[in-house]
Amino acid sequence: MLNRVNAPNDLSAFWMPFTSNRQFKQSPRMLVAAKDMYYTTADGRQVLDGTAGLWCVNAGHCRPKITEAIQHQAAELDYAPAFQMGHPIAFEFANRLVDMAPDGLDHVFFTNSGSESVETALKIALAYQRVKGQGSRTRLIGRERGYHGVNFGGISVGGIVGNRKMFGTLLTGVDHLPHTHLPAKNGFTKGVPEHGAELADELERIVTLHDASTIAAVIVEPVSGSTGVLIPPKTYLEKLRAICDKHGILLIFDEVITGFGRLGTPFAVDYFGVKPDIMITAKGVTNGVIPMGAVFVTSEIHDAFMSGPEHLIEFAHGYTYSGNPIACAAGLATLETYKEEGLLERGPELAPYWEEALHSLKGEPHVIDIRNIGLVGAIELEPIAGEPTKRAFSAFIKAFERGALIRTTGDIIALSPPLIISKVQIDELIDHVCAVLRAVD
Ligand SMILES: Cc1ncc(COP(=O)(O)O)c(C=O)c1O
Repeated sequence: MLNRVNAPNDLSAFWMPFTSNRQFKQSPRMLVAAKDMYYTTADGRQVLDGTAGLWCVNAGHCRPKITEAIQHQAAELDYAPAFQMGHPIAFEFANRLVDMAPDGLDHVFFTNSGSESVETALKIALAYQRVKGQGSRTRLIGRERGYHGVNFGGISVGGIVGNRKMFGTLLTGVDHLPHTHLPAKNGFTKGVPEHGAELADELERIVTLHDASTIAAVIVEPVSGSTGVLIPPKTYLEKLRAICDKHGILLIFDEVITGFGRLGTPFAVDYFGVKPDIMITAKGVTNGVIPMGAVFVTSEIHDAFMSGPEHLIEFAHGYTYSGNPIACAAGLATLETYKEEGLLERGPELAPYWEEALHSLKGEPHVIDIRNIGLVGAIELEPIAGEPTKRAFSAFIKAFERGALIRTTGDIIALSPPLIISKVQIDELIDHVCAVLRAVD
């Protein structure tokens, strides 16, 4: 095959994202092929994918329908602008997405990533308040330990110090709710934790401080993924919704990870029964195969923009690749694959098995907490004194050497396999993690 390089001899040009570049380039971990639940490494080993790539390959790797759809679309209509022009597949995909989305989220804005979806959602929220005549509502409220991608809006409302501290003053007018991670009270909880709903009341404190008339929106991940799988306490999201409603504040759910089946339901909205005004997605929308994101909004928000002279652009925002035809083709084939195989509703079948398997690691060396929901789980390790993240990183390396891809964030191992995983493969993954826990210092 043209341009096929399985073992490059110079790794210096590619400045790798979110990577310890020097460590990687001394001992590279190269993936050269993938099929269903496994990657193939450059040295020909099979590695079980315990993280769906980066929380995105929900239907497993190199699924034929998706591959064929991309090939076909690339040959038929490779690119078409979406500014003042249209092409049918983008409308088709938007319709299918809205059909499967929670009721009331009836319009979709296309982007190319989770980070772009976040920026889009924040801009929609601010602009919506303005078109409604509430232009004083300019503040955005995020949450500590929230991850909303890496662009300026996202890191401003996000709550991960390492992602924020290097980049100046960020957006102004942002405040943060406290995170909901309470290991002393909720340690080793199976599923949704009991304690901490009162942390939602902190929003009332923030409203009292700034006044509701200055606040446009609150943005949270229903379940925080990237900071180590932080599951909202019982009734926490309901409380946030109620406080937002009381004060006319928009509620944005960032479902970049939780969307498309991760919790065993199509969206976290379906799992928790709490509906936001704006729902952010990406990753699983195309099975991670082609970059894409989709921001869902209510008709109330969408329709508020549809006024004024008809020749004018209603919302000055969009990307060259919004609704890219090949991404839409990948997305349609992804939704078909999810549907044919019932992948977005595998929770009842798999989640109890997953939960038991994960919690069987209680008592293994270094484990200080285990948490799970749907098909996602976290194993929190005691950090090595004075060397945070080192233990988890060596667990990651050892797991890869043994034949499993896991993800670590801080000293937390996060697992989120493709939704096609079998019970035998769950056992295989947990066996790898168990062996690694026993092997690391
Ligand atoms: C909740 C959440 N929002 C946004 C993003 C950013 O997505 P992307 O990396 O596609 O920009 C991520 C990525 O992991 C995420 O988990």
